[in-house]
Amino acid sequence: MLRSSVFQRCAGTLGVLLFAHAALAMAGAPDGRSLYASCVACHGKQGEGLATIKAPAIAGLESWYVDRQLKNFATGLRGAATGDAEGAMMRAAASLLKSDAERAAVAAYVAGLPTRRSAHLESSNAAGATNGRNYFNALCSACHGANGRGNQQLGAPRLAGASPEYLARQFSAFKSGRRGAHPDDKLGTQMRAIAAMLPDSRTEADVITYAAGLPP
Ligand code: HEC
Ligand code: HEC
Repeated sequence: MLRSSVFQRCAGTLGVLLFAHAALAMAGAPDGRSLYASCVACHGKQGEGLATIKAPAIAGLESWYVDRQLKNFATGLRGAATGDAEGAMMRAAASLLKSDAERAAVAAYVAGLPTRRSAHLESSNAAGATNGRNYFNALCSACHGANGRGNQQLGAPRLAGASPEYLARQFSAFKSGRRGAHPDDKLGTQMRAIAAMLPDSRTEADVITYAAGLPP
């Protein structure tokens, strides 16, 4: 009798504690939607991007990729090279997020925004389209997927449906070392090695047009 009432009291106290803990966790858990308010001015309410300031569409990008990029900007793995005006803008924005939990929450919110295909240029000629597809399948699909939708295990993001202007700018950033040259940026370093493998700028444009034109 005594035993069971002590047990009941303990169980009751435990219940109250658990309840309080859950309530605290709820109050303390960062809310991705509210945090996203600080992104809207540049990336738009729906994550559609703003071409005039070269802020890309981010709606529907995988949360693991967004999370990693937010960390990369915050720590200077990305966007810290001299003269990288767009990177500097994004670094300032990333520094407003104060913890891994905040980054994860906003990344999950971004990933949940519906992806929309960017307006993209069709390859102007059939030879270019074939050239783009051949090079993409030979050199890019192993990591970015034959459908261009990315591969989490390899850390490679979706390219399908992205803006060709944005992809081209990132591609040349890898080539020139504006992106991916930081000694701790292992994945960027990989991408740099690949970016050096395309033979000429015509082929680069063909591959990027092809990748961006794949349905997201
Ligand atoms: C002041 C404008 C500005 C604000 C505010 C801003 N961004 Fe950006 N963001 C940019 C620009 C410009 C780029 C392109 C950087 C580059 O070219 O490397 C970018 C790039 C990114 C990328 C990389 C996309 C990719 O495909 O690699 C992600 C992810 C991102 N922003 C997420 C966010 C999130 C989330 C927020 C809010 C917490 C935010 N941004 C706030 C301007 C901004
Ligand atoms: C060995 C794997 C690998 C191969 C092969 C590869 N990539 Fe990547 N790529 C990556 C990774 C990983 C990233 C993300 C790097 C980071 O975290 O900053 C990336 C990022 C990119 C980005 C930036 C996307 C963004 O949203 O900012 C572009 C553009 C790109 N790759 C184009 C290509 C093209 C074109 C090819 C083929 C010529 C290619 N990649 C081949 C692994 C690869």
